[in-house]
Amino acid sequence: KIYDNDALASRDVAARIATIIRQKQAEGKPAVLGLATGISPIKVYRELIRLHREEGLSFNNVVTFNLDEYYPIQPDAGQSYVRFMKEQLFDHVDIDMGNVNIPDGRLAEKDVPAFCLAYEQKINSYGGIDVQLLGIGRTGHIGFNEPGSAPNSGTRLVTLNELTRRDASKDFGGKENVPTKAITMGIGTIYKAREIILLAWSGKKAAIIRKAVEGEQTSDVPATYLQGSANVQFVTDTEAAAAL
Ligand code: GLP
Repeated sequence: KIYDNDALASRDVAARIATIIRQKQAEGKPAVLGLATGISPIKVYRELIRLHREEGLSFNNVVTFNLDEYYPIQPDAGQSYVRFMKEQLFDHVDIDMGNVNIPDGRLAEKDVPAFCLAYEQKINSYGGIDVQLLGIGRTGHIGFNEPGSAPNSGTRLVTLNELTRRDASKDFGGKENVPTKAITMGIGTIYKAREIILLAWSGKKAAIIRKAVEGEQTSDVPATYLQGSANVQFVTDTEAAAAL
């Protein structure tokens, strides 16, 4: 879906998420949201906050699983995704923080595999993710599934691509300060979500959106694996769609 601008697109995406939350509320069930960080979802979160404040949308039945987190990182660090999610969404709505799940950047490396397995099991224990939001990195990564990621990969520790670290360098005040690793849900984890919405704005994403949508499926561009699912929507502004 191509929109004139990201604000209009984000409003529709937030409305879809709100519909799922309300449907699940009516059924007395949790709504399981897969959430993303980065610039791309910020306006969706802003609109969800507005719906909470002005239209009584409650998050009391919402359970969230974030895609990824830098590793290692402390949750209160300026660049941590825990901090990002609190600032951009959780601090402004009535979500129970006990229902919020974000990969733990503080773990000792030996404890990461067990954590990742438990993360997958916890998603499954809620019956899977109802709707997964995604951004896309310029390497074609979704979450932090960099080129080379397998289509059936699960939550795991990964090494960040150089381009990804360069793109993150402004947040960390220099590339040398960007962690070399991250914990991310896998392509397989993402793929299992019942609905997937990938967001991309601006001309900076045009080349990778073209590859992701029209290119051959390859682990060189992990987002191409989304082509195999009927439950995926790419939502862009006109600039991000310009090379299609
Ligand atoms: C980071 C995140 C990704 C995100 C990507 C794009 O690498 N780990 O999940 O999709 O950035 O970010 P942005 O939305 O800021 O372009």
